[in-house]
Amino acid sequence: MTNKIHFVIAALALLAGGICANAQTVIDTRNTSLVIKAEQGRHPQILYYGARLQPGDAASVGLNGKVFDLYPARFDRTSEPDALSVEMPDGNVSADLRTESVKESAWDGGKDIEILCKDPLYPFFTVKIFLRSYTEENLIETWAAIHNAGKKPVILHRYDSGFLPIQEGDVWMTSLHGGWADECRVVSQPLVNGTREVSTHGGVRDNAVAHSEVMLSLDGKPQENTGRVIGAALEYGGNFEMRVVTLEGTHRFFAGISPADAWYTLAKGEEFVTPKLAYSWSDEGLGGVSRNFHRWGRKYRLAHGGQPNDILLNCWEGVYMDIQEPVMHKMAADVASIGGELFVIDDGWFGSEKYPRDTDIQGLGDWQLQKKKLPHGLQGMVDCCKDLGIKFGIWIEPEMVNTRSELYEKHPDWVLNAAGREPVPGRGGTQMVLDLCNPAVQDFVFGILDGVMKQAPGIAYVKWDCNNIMRSPGSPWLKNQNHLYIEYQRGLEKVLNRVREAYPDLIIQACASGGARVNWGTMPWFDEVWTSDNTDALQRINIQWGTSYFFPAEMMACHVSASPNHQTGRVIPLKYRIDVAMSGRLGFELQPAQMTEEEKDICRKAVTEYKKIRPVVQCGDIYRLVSPYDGKGLASLLYTNEDKSQAVFFWWRTGFFRNDHPARVPLAGLDPAKNYKVTELNKVEGEPVSALDGKTVSGAYLMASGFYFPEKDVYNGHNDWHSHVILLEAQ
Ligand code: GLA
Repeated sequence: MTNKIHFVIAALALLAGGICANAQTVIDTRNTSLVIKAEQGRHPQILYYGARLQPGDAASVGLNGKVFDLYPARFDRTSEPDALSVEMPDGNVSADLRTESVKESAWDGGKDIEILCKDPLYPFFTVKIFLRSYTEENLIETWAAIHNAGKKPVILHRYDSGFLPIQEGDVWMTSLHGGWADECRVVSQPLVNGTREVSTHGGVRDNAVAHSEVMLSLDGKPQENTGRVIGAALEYGGNFEMRVVTLEGTHRFFAGISPADAWYTLAKGEEFVTPKLAYSWSDEGLGGVSRNFHRWGRKYRLAHGGQPNDILLNCWEGVYMDIQEPVMHKMAADVASIGGELFVIDDGWFGSEKYPRDTDIQGLGDWQLQKKKLPHGLQGMVDCCKDLGIKFGIWIEPEMVNTRSELYEKHPDWVLNAAGREPVPGRGGTQMVLDLCNPAVQDFVFGILDGVMKQAPGIAYVKWDCNNIMRSPGSPWLKNQNHLYIEYQRGLEKVLNRVREAYPDLIIQACASGGARVNWGTMPWFDEVWTSDNTDALQRINIQWGTSYFFPAEMMACHVSASPNHQTGRVIPLKYRIDVAMSGRLGFELQPAQMTEEEKDICRKAVTEYKKIRPVVQCGDIYRLVSPYDGKGLASLLYTNEDKSQAVFFWWRTGFFRNDHPARVPLAGLDPAKNYKVTELNKVEGEPVSALDGKTVSGAYLMASGFYFPEKDVYNGHNDWHSHVILLEAQ
């Protein structure tokens, strides 16, 4: 029954030309089933979502518990919250969604279902509910298209993308929160009666504080590799709201654009299509859901997904805005000499004569090259890197403007600001958000990227930054300010579509003061993200851990930076810093001129070894083993390739107390029947090496017993910052 949608008896009789009614529909993926009942003239319902059903089970699942509407709308229920809430032209605030027709069709990776619903009292008002299955990735997408064929506007007060009832029981929700330099902090809580909401309100790139992805663990406290889990991700970069409403012991999960200050007026003839909600079920714990999302994301959502990303040096923490051409040439040569593949000039290379970008208080908006900094222009840098055999990349922040810029002086009306209010700037006391609702501004923003690319056609990489939220929400261009958050996102997507049409091969990093723009709605235009401005290796373990819940290592930029660290002041040995950065997309963010030859050699060796393991790390399956959040004084994870012939194991000590022995770590995800050669990577003189280094042991042994690393020799002067990276190769 793999890769099949089958209809039970009642449905079969009515199936004609891909259209059916009175039907119960089972959407199977490799390991899961979703059962929908869409009977003509009735509300479509969801009867089951979970482990793959056996043939014949579907007929009974609807009898085994409370049944919910597939897309609840305010009508004839009591106490139930809604996915859709509307105000009809006559003021009626109810909607009654009754099935008109159901269509199913196959696509390469699974099936599509479209359920058309009509409101009998307002026949001009229709809602199409879509479901798309991804058979191999065990994932379902759902979304809605709300259409007003009437003569007068309908106001949408709430317009979620999707809804899922979650079974009764000890269900825990895991969500990702934080702030600048502390992204993706993992928060797990049991669901109790009431509402648990995760949402953002910053308008632009607000994922530093909260993420539009959650895990729902169905068997009590979340476990990494056991237990049933549903993971859900709203594919949207703007304000979102995810909420679980628990009533009488049953949990209801909703996800969509946040309706806060965003009632949407659906004009006559207009259709509003919600963003997609992607969800996945696994009985292999949080890790099972992560692997499903990583595989799906690499294949369907990430720009150039599945192609490993380059090892780069970004000059930001090395020189900040003090950009000087000879220094840039030297940095490019240094990264090339250790085996790096790309050099990136960060902020500070542009500005007008009046407002040169030498500090963060001015210059955004004036995208002229500062000749005094780069006399041979960006093309000079492209050529220099080409001669060195590496690629060149550049930083831009096109959605923003400083009030200290010629752009702002010329176009004060191009900036978001609530009418009549004093501007509320962000960074540097001068940074404002451009009004991407305005088509003229969209042209300008596209023109920034286009202009840079035309100045130096060999640019291979762009770091697209976005360092502000909407502090004073208001668009001088829009008539209906309730549409601001939605229209900004639409404007941005229009610009990004143009960028991708014009530059399909460009590698683009999404940066937003670090990881504030990490979501599956944004990634189709981007290749990777700047995971965090925090490059402290210890805190990065936690940040990267949370990010990996939904996003693959391929898109997680992880840079080795200087010690003491610029964000925390912590002093960490180079090996440990490298061992942490190697678990994502390895890069460097420091001034190599300040490194010793010995340190450069360590980096050179690490880069050579990383190139060997890069396909497994960046494009493999993750198995998280020991969480840094569990307070065990260590963290550990592993990546395997698809046929489990190669794996890379990471182990980092995260705390050190005398005579506090770190636990043995059994591995996961290997083939028990295979024998693996154990090779310790990143060996540095004086640092301990696994006792199994060079030995060959079975996958069964490694998964039963795993690795044990004794406490370091405390008398050699450095006893903490203990880490290992180990390659396992099937013989
Ligand atoms: C943001 C980014 C940093 C760097 C600076 C430049 O903070 O997150 O990586 O690019 O801007 O101003």
